[in-house]
Amino acid sequence: MNKKWWKEAVIYQIYPRSFKDTNGDGVGDLRGIIEKLDYIKSLGVDVIWLNPIYASPNDDNGYDISDYKAIMDEFGTMDDFDEMLREMHKRNIRLVMDLVVNHSSDEHRWFQESRSSRDNPYRDYYHWWPAEKGKPAPRFSFFDVNSDAWMYDSTTNAYYLHYFSRKQPDLKWENPKVRQEVYDIMRFWLAKGIDGFRMDAFQYVSKDTTFKPLPEGYEKDIIKYYGMGPNLHEYLQEMNREVISQYDIMTVAEGAGSTFEDAISLVDPERKELDMVYHFEGMDIGNGLGGYSLKEFKEVYSRWDNALADKGWLSIFLANHDVPRMVSKFGNDGDVFRQASSKMLNTFILSMRGTPYCYYGDELGMTNIDFDDISDYKDISAINSYQAAKEAGKDMDEFMKKLNFLSRDNARTPMQWDTTSYAGFTNGTPWLAVNPNFKAINVEVENNDPASCLNYFRKMVQLRKEYPVFVYGDYELLFPDHEQVYAYTRELDDEKVLVLLNFSEKPVKVTLPANVKLKEVMIDNMDDDEVEGSDVNLKPYQAIIYLLL
Ligand code: GLC
Ligand code: CA
Repeated sequence: MNKKWWKEAVIYQIYPRSFKDTNGDGVGDLRGIIEKLDYIKSLGVDVIWLNPIYASPNDDNGYDISDYKAIMDEFGTMDDFDEMLREMHKRNIRLVMDLVVNHSSDEHRWFQESRSSRDNPYRDYYHWWPAEKGKPAPRFSFFDVNSDAWMYDSTTNAYYLHYFSRKQPDLKWENPKVRQEVYDIMRFWLAKGIDGFRMDAFQYVSKDTTFKPLPEGYEKDIIKYYGMGPNLHEYLQEMNREVISQYDIMTVAEGAGSTFEDAISLVDPERKELDMVYHFEGMDIGNGLGGYSLKEFKEVYSRWDNALADKGWLSIFLANHDVPRMVSKFGNDGDVFRQASSKMLNTFILSMRGTPYCYYGDELGMTNIDFDDISDYKDISAINSYQAAKEAGKDMDEFMKKLNFLSRDNARTPMQWDTTSYAGFTNGTPWLAVNPNFKAINVEVENNDPASCLNYFRKMVQLRKEYPVFVYGDYELLFPDHEQVYAYTRELDDEKVLVLLNFSEKPVKVTLPANVKLKEVMIDNMDDDEVEGSDVNLKPYQAIIYLLL
């Protein structure tokens, strides 16, 4: 067992635009984060992952960067950044930054140069296809209105590639100069003392640059055809040699390739690439409107745990800025069960093997917002996919229903601090609507309620910190076929715990195997466990962890 600080950490993800506004422009800022550091410390978390705060025209809320060494005007200044980092470190909180280098903004100086002429020294920083060769073979764009990842640019009569929006041209990693630019950016922030990087869209940096036609339906296995290109591992090893290995930092890749072999090879310590991956398979469950199967959920998490049990390390999360709110997707966000199911899901995240991530507001049980009109949405992916669906003559009622549930804006609504206007997020008009349920769900109210989601979250974090079994212990699934209950043990040396999670709104009785002997309750989201012999009766969404004999 290889101990590391980043395995023992609990990570708190902040979407800076929505966390706390201090100057009344309706947009969260770095001073807002500084103001709330004591709150973050009070959660017991150790690391903050910040979504991008670099200079950006905000086509994709900061994931389109026009200057990697400057702070976005709306978020503040470099002095604010330096102060924020100092204040974090003072409190023993580490900072992980988003590294968005599969693409830059089209407003980045590199791209401005690159598009200006075919013989510009920056030409080869991006993927260009000269129009005299005909139209390039189709590539699908995640965010573009017409789904075409090749954008024609008349200045040089050529197409450039953009897997994301047309304002996010893909950088050409095959060019060693591009890679050196990236290392230089990394060193710039590391010299300031940051503690790691979350590698955005990293699977895509290495491409098959012949851009040959892809088989029909390739969009369904996008990682295989777009990502994990022939040189990815070589690039990562180079980055590790030149930068990562020189510092005590953590690196986490967004995505895990398309197979277990991919995932393991990204984080096998002997290969010296990255520290942890996060897989999307868990997140992809429940992306339909009809709920999800707990059996499938358990199978996915158990399979991933197994695959990385000996080598490498996983991230455990149920939400981020790209998906619905955790409780709305995997729990039950109605009045009756919202609190219980939020606590239950946080018990899951914080008792699994792998580094747990809490997306801001999930410690409070924040929910999806329930927008019904397209004009409420701000996300480029929502707006462009709406346009595309309309043009394709799709059933728009169905489309709006899906968007209402799955839109990324659900998770981007302002943090709910108190009961004052706009939940205490801003004195101005927030850039995205505040969830109307903020009077009940907010930090102030939950701070004062010992039974709140917030206080439960704190307790659960403490428990994880106190017992290394939650970090390093072996995982074993019980009752794989049970439709309501997720039960597993974790075991390290002579410490063994049993986690029982009722994922349903019905009470349920579980009969424990003869070799499982309960010693005492470590945590219980209802503070009321009912045991009769080897039977445990679980209430709807009850979560209990027992220390075993
Ligand atoms: C990642 C980010 C997402 C962003 C995309 C393009 O998936 O999480 O928010 O839009 O990359 O950078
Ligand atoms: Ca502001």
